[in-house]
Amino acid sequence: METVEIDTDARPEPAPETEGSHGRGAYYATTPIFYVNAAPHLGHAYTTTLVDVVTRYHRLKGDDTFFLTGTDEHGEKVAKAAEKAGMTPQQYVDGVADQFRATWDRLGIRYDEFIRTTEERHQKVVREILQRVYDNGDIFYGEYSGLYCVGAERFVTEKEIVDGKCPDSDDPPEYRTEANYFFRMEKYRPWLRETLEENPDLIRPERYRNEVLAMLREPIGDLSISRPRKRVPWGIPLPWDDEHVTYVWFDALINYYSALASKGLEERYWPSVEHFIAKDIVKPHGLFWPIMLKAAGLPLYQHLNVHGYWLVNERKMSKSIGNVVRPLDLQKKYGNDAFRYYLLRDMNFGLDASFSETGIAERINSDLANDLGNLLNRTLGMLARYRDGVVPAAGALDPLDQELRDAFTALPAEVGRLFDQLQFDRALETIMEAVRKANKYVSETAPWELAKDPARAERLDTVLNTCVEALCCASILLEPVIPGKARELRKQLGIKRAPFDYASASQWGLVPAGTRTAPAEPLFPRIDLEELERAIAEPEPEPLEHQAEIAIHDFGRVELRVVTVEKVEPHPNADKLLVLTVRMGPETRTVVSGIRAHYEPDQLVGKKLILVANLKPVTLRGVRSEGMILAAEDADGNLSVATLDRDLPDGSEVR
Ligand code: MSP
Repeated sequence: METVEIDTDARPEPAPETEGSHGRGAYYATTPIFYVNAAPHLGHAYTTTLVDVVTRYHRLKGDDTFFLTGTDEHGEKVAKAAEKAGMTPQQYVDGVADQFRATWDRLGIRYDEFIRTTEERHQKVVREILQRVYDNGDIFYGEYSGLYCVGAERFVTEKEIVDGKCPDSDDPPEYRTEANYFFRMEKYRPWLRETLEENPDLIRPERYRNEVLAMLREPIGDLSISRPRKRVPWGIPLPWDDEHVTYVWFDALINYYSALASKGLEERYWPSVEHFIAKDIVKPHGLFWPIMLKAAGLPLYQHLNVHGYWLVNERKMSKSIGNVVRPLDLQKKYGNDAFRYYLLRDMNFGLDASFSETGIAERINSDLANDLGNLLNRTLGMLARYRDGVVPAAGALDPLDQELRDAFTALPAEVGRLFDQLQFDRALETIMEAVRKANKYVSETAPWELAKDPARAERLDTVLNTCVEALCCASILLEPVIPGKARELRKQLGIKRAPFDYASASQWGLVPAGTRTAPAEPLFPRIDLEELERAIAEPEPEPLEHQAEIAIHDFGRVELRVVTVEKVEPHPNADKLLVLTVRMGPETRTVVSGIRAHYEPDQLVGKKLILVANLKPVTLRGVRSEGMILAAEDADGNLSVATLDRDLPDGSEVR
């Protein structure tokens, strides 16, 4: 087999720092493209908000910035979700992609491009890259047997399995043998190892680089990159063999490049690409993707930036645990900017963080209302009281004034450094420290005392002017995180000049004397914590939901029968399901029922239950189910099967 070597070792030069008019550095940042089998939740919103913040920061610095997000729409998982929803895969993915877009719009996310893997422009690039790698001899045909997890869409190794379940999806994997195309990853292992060793911050923070380096210490094997089309029709056919479709990860990762290539933007932005992901998908991004790029003759990314999880009640969010937090609920309650501030301030990049709604309220009350809001409020109040709402010019500076000015003019460099190092929590804390300093400065200079003495009018001017400048500086630095409120703050100060660039934050004297301020309005209203805690502890009871009324003949279409349970076994592939063999007069039926958490098989044998007998049969995880057992469930999830009050023969009709 012929192998063509292409020199892709050269990593692009880092984007040049922006210096005034001396050209603009490019900055291209991506979120993962999210699976469309679930609606957007807090975790998706975090990464997307984070990339929105970093790209706003770079835009403010004058960089030529591009922000990509999108949806990952192929694969078995999506096809199954569509089937469950009774739609075609295309109808289904169109709906969820719209939902993602609408969520980002409502959260004020300013992405430049939204890529969907079902778009032809993406598929075309995937085919081109596949063909290139195939022609180079890095893809071969072979057979593979092993444990496959549908949820995670990959084969899992014995070592990875915890309690019989896949670590990614918590589903039990199934044994599969498949003839597939394989990508020669193992061949590139020494190269990737060297690359990671030579570029210590390629994957950051370090713990995730170490994770990938540990994987590279042992053979990584070759990657199965196709699925038989007969089994998984929902995917991109391989350009040289349309009996196979592309493995979802090989398809999905290419989005980062296809979104640019489809617009002719690859030369402009690819050399500066920064990926942002959470720790769940380090392996495909740290192992598969660099090797795919290398094999395709494309330069490597600048950095893979990996954050931790938002935990809710100490657990990763999941539908089955029932701890999924919806970002739009929080946005409605607390507003976009406070929600963004909380996300950035309360997570230390790279580590997990605990989400709590009281945490948001506490941040609002302390940082945003007490520190920032208070400084604005008192400054505007004093300007209205002592200077008819007009910003005065500063006079000679006292040491206290100088000290505060120095603290603020030094901020942009320090905050910028922290932003560049992805230390968003510390960047925000540094800004708030300065804001607290400014509040302290007001107490120390006591403008209300100065106002009593006409001889100290110039001193009062200087103090008021200093407060306005400090606020203006803080508003520029906070702009990437709280863009709406930063603008509102400047509007209340009467500042017309817009937009500021990042560098201007270090130039004192941005607000001309004579600027007319507006009456103060609370920037971030305080939250009543006690009331919130009460509401969380005692949520309003949900009203019992009734279905729409039906006519008696509608009900008559349901055939209900008494059945006797003859045999009960656990479902071989699903730990929530039992397989019941029931007798219904002369007939025997198999019924799959989701009651395994509530009944031991023995408890059911011999019981007379009620079966929905004319339900269309379905196959549940490989077992055909011919009907449904009736059961009652209370609000806490306690469950009881419906039984008879008197002994009647099985087969009897229930009306
Ligand atoms: N489709 C793949 C990614 C393909 S990228 C080429 C995928 N999708 S996903 O919908 O499961 O999204 C995973 C990502 O969602 C995480 O990497 C992270 O960005 C975000 N988060 C999901 N849950 C999260 C938390 N609990 N906390 C923080 N972020 C989380 O994987």
